[in-house]
Amino acid sequence: MNNGQIMKRVAVFASGRGTNLQALIEATKKGEIPAKIVLVITDREDAQALRRAAQNFIKAFYLSPEGLTREEYDTLLLRFLQDNQIDLIALAGFMRILSPVLIRAYPNKILNIHPSLLPAFPGLHAQRQALEYGVKVTGCTVHLVDEEVDHGPIVIQRTVPVYDTDTEETLSARILEQEHIAYPEALKLLAEDRLIVQGRRVFIRDAGTT
Ligand code: GAR
Repeated sequence: MNNGQIMKRVAVFASGRGTNLQALIEATKKGEIPAKIVLVITDREDAQALRRAAQNFIKAFYLSPEGLTREEYDTLLLRFLQDNQIDLIALAGFMRILSPVLIRAYPNKILNIHPSLLPAFPGLHAQRQALEYGVKVTGCTVHLVDEEVDHGPIVIQRTVPVYDTDTEETLSARILEQEHIAYPEALKLLAEDRLIVQGRRVFIRDAGTT
């Protein structure tokens, strides 16, 4: 189980349906990750992630961005995080760009998942970008968040073939399956303090001993 490791307190930020949130909830509940999701925050009132949090008895907030600058919004978020003694943050389909206010408060403690093999196809509609570009392989990336969008040091990538018959929907669905494997793996490594970041490169302490 947790080998006596201290449980990290995790906040997940999500804007939508929250399937990655669900994968993280299930993985942490199994007790294989020394982490507990204690807070879910969304910037959209209708985010399904809120319902998933409630179903799992996790404290959840909708924080409206209306009328706030990015820095003001993130300052409020930071207060929630500090009030809840959050150690780690996982962005799971959170469609806002974080400001340095948050990133500097949590250096190398924020993970993001993106549906492409970064640095290819950052930004919105990564799966559509991959199809339109004509790549034969794409996938997903879990990375640490730095001050550039979809850019920080890469923790895990998983590949997915692109088929001639793929549509944006079929490709997205196959990538999503891999996201649900990659994200819990990455959170586990971060929660176990096993990520060694040297510049852009991330090395895994004691790789192969899990
Ligand atoms: C996921 O495919 C995730 O990789 C993507 O949003 C989706 C959220 O799905 N994130 C980004 O594109 C971030 N740049 P979910 O709400 O079901 O987890």
